[in-house]
Amino acid sequence: MRAVSVSDGIWWVGGVDWNLRDFHGYETPRGTTYNAYLVIGSEQVALIDTVKDPFVPELLSRISEVVDPSEIDLIVVNHVEPDHNSGLRHVMAACPNARVVASKAGVPSVAEYHDGLAVDEVGPDDVIDLGGKSLHFMPMPMVHWPDSMFTFCPESATLMPNDAFGQHMASAERFADEVGLDLAVTELGIYYANILMPLGKMVAKAVEKVTEAGWVCDVIAPSHGVIWRGEGIGRAVAAYAKWTANTLADKAIVAYATMWESTDALAKAIADGIAAEGVDVSLYDLSVTPVATVTSDLLDARALVVGSPTLHHGMLYKVAGYLHYLAGLKPAGRLGATFGSFGWGGGATKQITERMESIGFAMCAEPFTEKFRPTAEDLVAAQEWGRQVARAIKDAGAPATDAVDA
Ligand code: FEO
Repeated sequence: MRAVSVSDGIWWVGGVDWNLRDFHGYETPRGTTYNAYLVIGSEQVALIDTVKDPFVPELLSRISEVVDPSEIDLIVVNHVEPDHNSGLRHVMAACPNARVVASKAGVPSVAEYHDGLAVDEVGPDDVIDLGGKSLHFMPMPMVHWPDSMFTFCPESATLMPNDAFGQHMASAERFADEVGLDLAVTELGIYYANILMPLGKMVAKAVEKVTEAGWVCDVIAPSHGVIWRGEGIGRAVAAYAKWTANTLADKAIVAYATMWESTDALAKAIADGIAAEGVDVSLYDLSVTPVATVTSDLLDARALVVGSPTLHHGMLYKVAGYLHYLAGLKPAGRLGATFGSFGWGGGATKQITERMESIGFAMCAEPFTEKFRPTAEDLVAAQEWGRQVARAIKDAGAPATDAVDA
């Protein structure tokens, strides 16, 4: 794969990690990319971000198709996380004259990661003139780390926002419209749900800051996945607006694990009951479903219904593991409910209830528990319990109205 022209004077020169299957502990079945961009001015050449260290030869090979790496004058570190920054030293060996810049919070982190490397600070008042192209900077703390920064080139109307607008997706194509906007937006949602969900307010603020700065973007070139242009920009920005506003639908996720299929049977009966009330429902066995899949489906769901049989007086570890994963993502404004089966003592639903409440779920029904193997009557009762949860979902989603006596 060659260097790819992104916009006037800007080239994609990153690395494609086709085989990455785990990032931050969540599954990435499509792999990812570590995007880096060359900005070619008449007087200076800048490289925006580098790549994960093993991908440096790939990066340098692509840079060499456009300029000799030794001609690079400036390296912008938009984000110090090692997927973008761990290869910096090896890149610098090929461009020894390059000055390195980062945000105020990024400077000490880059220096620490790279054993005292000299780094200059840039901020919103700085403009670096490359000759016919200029670089403008905006610190964007917690999108995704305290050091995160956006870089903008107004002459090419190109925003390079690092993790923002990224997706974990390796592909031969470089633009969202080339892989298909529906797929690109789906992957954008998976990334948002599993990385940026707890940072939604900061992401919304970042989009506002770009607008306030008057940065008009014909191209949004993130550090992961495909690049947005044309209609894709509107689709991506609209999706972010919906997710950062935590816009929820009348929809439930039933997530569970099972030991001897009793909890599995209850889960299916409960899902039937939820669907019978006209509420959208998805059902996932946590022992076989990637956490990223469940979490991305939860992104617009108003309720999470969690089930487990009792083992050693508590929930199965697959369920506990998922709730631990979810706790870090801080899903807000959602209802919760729990169900499960037991052989003699029980305990799983009590433990799940406590864990879900600690995460912030508002429990909307008494736990549904069933001893040993569910009978036909038990399954009817589970279905009715599912209907009850669905009615709570619809009530919570209904617009508030003032009662008026006729
Ligand atoms: Fe892609 Fe926060 O690093």
